[in-house]
Amino acid sequence: MLRLVRLFVTFCVDLYTMLFNNGKKQILPPIANPILLMSAVEISNNIKQGKLKARNVIEAYFERIESINLSINAVIAIREDALIDADQIDAKVQHELRGNQPLDGVSIQDKPLLGVPFSVKDSIGVKGMIISVGLYSRRNEVALKDSTVVANLREAGAIPIAITNVPEMLTWYDTYNKLFGQTNNPYDLSRTPGGTTGGEGALIAAAGSVIGVGSDIGGSIRIPASFCGIYGHKVTPEILSRDGLLPSVKEHMSYMFTCGPLCRYVSDIIPTVKAMAGSNISRLPNIEQRVDLSQISIYYMFETDIPWKTPLQQCVKNGLLKVVSYFEDEFDVNCVEISANEFNRCIDLWREAMLEATTIPIAEALGDKNGKISISFEILKSLFGLSHHTPKSLLVALLTKAQMKKQIDFKSNTKRTAKLTRKFSRLLADNGVFLYPSHPEVAPKHESTFFKMFNIDHTTVFNIMGMPVTQCPLGLNEDGLPIGLQIASKAYNDHLTIAVASEIYKAFGGWISPSRVQC
Ligand SMILES: *[C@@H]1O[C@H](CO)[C@@H](O)[C@H](O)[C@H]1NC(C)=O
Ligand SMILES: *[C@@H]1O[C@H](CO)[C@@H](O)[C@H](O)[C@H]1NC(C)=O
Repeated sequence: MLRLVRLFVTFCVDLYTMLFNNGKKQILPPIANPILLMSAVEISNNIKQGKLKARNVIEAYFERIESINLSINAVIAIREDALIDADQIDAKVQHELRGNQPLDGVSIQDKPLLGVPFSVKDSIGVKGMIISVGLYSRRNEVALKDSTVVANLREAGAIPIAITNVPEMLTWYDTYNKLFGQTNNPYDLSRTPGGTTGGEGALIAAAGSVIGVGSDIGGSIRIPASFCGIYGHKVTPEILSRDGLLPSVKEHMSYMFTCGPLCRYVSDIIPTVKAMAGSNISRLPNIEQRVDLSQISIYYMFETDIPWKTPLQQCVKNGLLKVVSYFEDEFDVNCVEISANEFNRCIDLWREAMLEATTIPIAEALGDKNGKISISFEILKSLFGLSHHTPKSLLVALLTKAQMKKQIDFKSNTKRTAKLTRKFSRLLADNGVFLYPSHPEVAPKHESTFFKMFNIDHTTVFNIMGMPVTQCPLGLNEDGLPIGLQIASKAYNDHLTIAVASEIYKAFGGWISPSRVQC
């Protein structure tokens, strides 16, 4: 019955989008500057050798942002001071290349991301920049200091250049709010880039940034990375600091919420994670360990059985199968399909864990400084286009309110989750990875996600288990839309997931530009 309802709803939405949301497949301007095609590590190495000026890099990215932002609407604020930072770096490089001792005591050689531009999601503090989380009431809110991950990146020599759009209060997996509007997918502007780190996904994929900072409590790094055909890495919990990130979560549930990088080049994942972690990278002692891929074991699964979920698209399934047969042929690895029936209940476990994790009830979080909102009044206003809140936030608020009325046995949930995590960790051990589609479908049309809330269960399952995951692009489907795959491992084995992603890159390629490349 539920399946039939879902089919009917999907049919209506598809019909609607066909009639009212077509012909927006506009092409972005070509990439004309070779600087935009360098990885973060290449940029840094070239700057250190005096072959490239940090100022030229920042200018190249500012120009690119100006030429694409009108179409994708990913950037909500530009950090002009980036040019000042760049000039200081250029002067420092000149000084040290002439053989002088560093004036600030740290050599350019000890700055792994020297002069590398990066962008940041509008829920992670960058000193002096807006931090609105897409809330109308926070439109004038400015971060008084850098979040720790941003400070760590700057310590490594990187330069923040822009703040990017998010869905209101990070409540949905698209990127829309009443303050800055809707961000579009660079591969097809009538589709969503995903969320909640959606501005980052769109901007990086469109070559408007090279690395970005995101956060993930249910797929917020991996979903946009998957819809936009780039890499996203959800780091093992408790490695990267959450200081300066919104929203806050309760300490005992903090394993659900981690930040991590999004990037176009697989070779940038490890250097960026290291830079974001600062000295805390010591908690991930194996991060640079070499991985012998013939010694790994691979497990995989296609989908769960949830009536409200979109069934797995064939192109997404084929992507996973392509990877499985590659590893079987090339490394003689035995790949085992598993059926984890427990996964069917995980979306509920996650939703209840979210309830337990949040420090501020959603109605208060949406009201922010103005206090708790009245959900029904806002829904009424919404019908006349008068609410500052999005229909999706109000839906989440409504569902959460209903959920709060139920008696939830958090203790037994914790036990079940712990049992599942133990079972899975034993299976994967220290040489196993688990392949699972990042989402049941490629980037959907803007309006359609309203009825597809349960599709996020592909990503949420790894938040409740606190596992590290790399989202890896697997090329484009016949409509030119990116296909994504998650590679997960036991906690602290991030090096395994990144090694598998690197191998997939070697075999099949990685990011594919959504616009022509003319340089
Ligand atoms: C990006 O584009 C959108 C819409 O096209 C615009 O409203 C916004 O101000 C732009 N951002 C910047 C920083 O220019
Ligand atoms: C390391 O982690 C601790 C919390 O566990 C945090 O207070 C500290 O700021 C982190 N240091 C860095 C350099 O990120």
